[in-house]
Amino acid sequence: MTDLKETRIQSIGIPRDKASEPTLGIEPIILGERYYSPSFAQSEWDKMWTRVWQIAGRVDQIPTPGDYVCYEIMHESIICIRGEDSLIRAFYNSCQHRGNQLVTAEAGTLAGGEFQCAYHGWRFNDSGECTWAYDEDDFPQGSPCGNANLIEIPCDTWAGFIWFNMDSDCKTLRDWLEPVASHLDTYRMEEMKRTHWVTVEGDWNWKCVQDNFNESYHLPFVHPQTIASMNEHHSGCQFDLYPSGHCRMLMPGGGPGPQYSGSADRTFRSLKQEFDYWEFDPEPYRENLSGLRIALQERKRELAEAKGYDFSRYSDEQLTDHYHYTIFPNVSFSMKPDGCIFLRSAPHPNDPNKCLFDMWYLTMFPNGSKEYYSNSMRDWVSIDHQVEHETGIAGEVSCGPGIDQDVAIWTTQHKGLRSRGYRGEYLPLQERRIRYFHETIDSYLAMDPT
Ligand code: FES
Ligand SMILES: [Fe+2]
Repeated sequence: MTDLKETRIQSIGIPRDKASEPTLGIEPIILGERYYSPSFAQSEWDKMWTRVWQIAGRVDQIPTPGDYVCYEIMHESIICIRGEDSLIRAFYNSCQHRGNQLVTAEAGTLAGGEFQCAYHGWRFNDSGECTWAYDEDDFPQGSPCGNANLIEIPCDTWAGFIWFNMDSDCKTLRDWLEPVASHLDTYRMEEMKRTHWVTVEGDWNWKCVQDNFNESYHLPFVHPQTIASMNEHHSGCQFDLYPSGHCRMLMPGGGPGPQYSGSADRTFRSLKQEFDYWEFDPEPYRENLSGLRIALQERKRELAEAKGYDFSRYSDEQLTDHYHYTIFPNVSFSMKPDGCIFLRSAPHPNDPNKCLFDMWYLTMFPNGSKEYYSNSMRDWVSIDHQVEHETGIAGEVSCGPGIDQDVAIWTTQHKGLRSRGYRGEYLPLQERRIRYFHETIDSYLAMDPT
């Protein structure tokens, strides 16, 4: 089975208890139509997207009152704004006069602390209250001021992200995220800085992305470099499927698994940058690659403080292993000791055969470092440089090493899913997070629309 053996008793770090397994079906349910049918996409919108917590942006994008971010999903547009009272509130981006959108920018600052509609000039304050209307005394139903206010929806923050939910009866964000929120709090993501921000449009359904990040079965084929540097085989990993619909995967890193039959040189090459950074000599482990992981953990503990890291809240495993969380329905956090790969898919507003895919990298800068070489991104990043949002077409704009390999596969997968010859999934047990993901979607679709 897939339980991971503890290497030592930990009193710090993320709990590694195995979640009890839900009972899943085996008859195919992941049929092609759920990837291309407009009516299926409409059901997802009506019954699922309008009920789940979603991320609008980063808290550090809106440090001062009047700052806002605007996030679009499908045809909807949500404004999250920091008010004079420093609270962040979320509103539908729709004027209560005759519906014009109030803002069109992805982020900005309100002039004079008020929204002013470009159509007939109505004004709304940062609490959503209508404060001014042209010819205010000409409304037989009474003045719009204080009455025709913006429609507010639940909004909260966690880990430096701004979250919203279109369902006014939703669970609290924390309840929704558990147990993931408690696990990931050790990483202090609120102190990380977004240093890469890429959105690409591709020819696949949004679920191809979440399916992909819910399994590691593809690693030897899509990411052949990984077999030399991590224990990607399911026998060495742990998979947890939580009642909330969120999942996680624990995969040992810092060296290959026992099934690896390649050379030590290949392993050393693939981990070279990390070894160099940590001034770690792998040669003593040439004949014993299984010893690399613990030795590297110990080395990181030794040098962490000198290099400006606070690893005091991490277990030893967190220093080398891959802690990969998928948040239902469309977000993945792939945690590193010094950062996080944030991955998100969103449906295209007009076509279920298209998707908007986000890759962000959040960097935890070591104390005192303003410039930092991100091993995960193979790139230098700067704490002072506000990263720009790069957008484009999949394949033309890079989503970073590794992730580009995933991006390349989704187009051909989506085409095959549309074939009359595709008869539904045939999954190994190790891909059960995919089955769970689709069963969770189906449980939303079985509810009445809100
Ligand atoms: S639609 Fe906004 S003021 Fe008329
Ligand atoms: Fe992948």
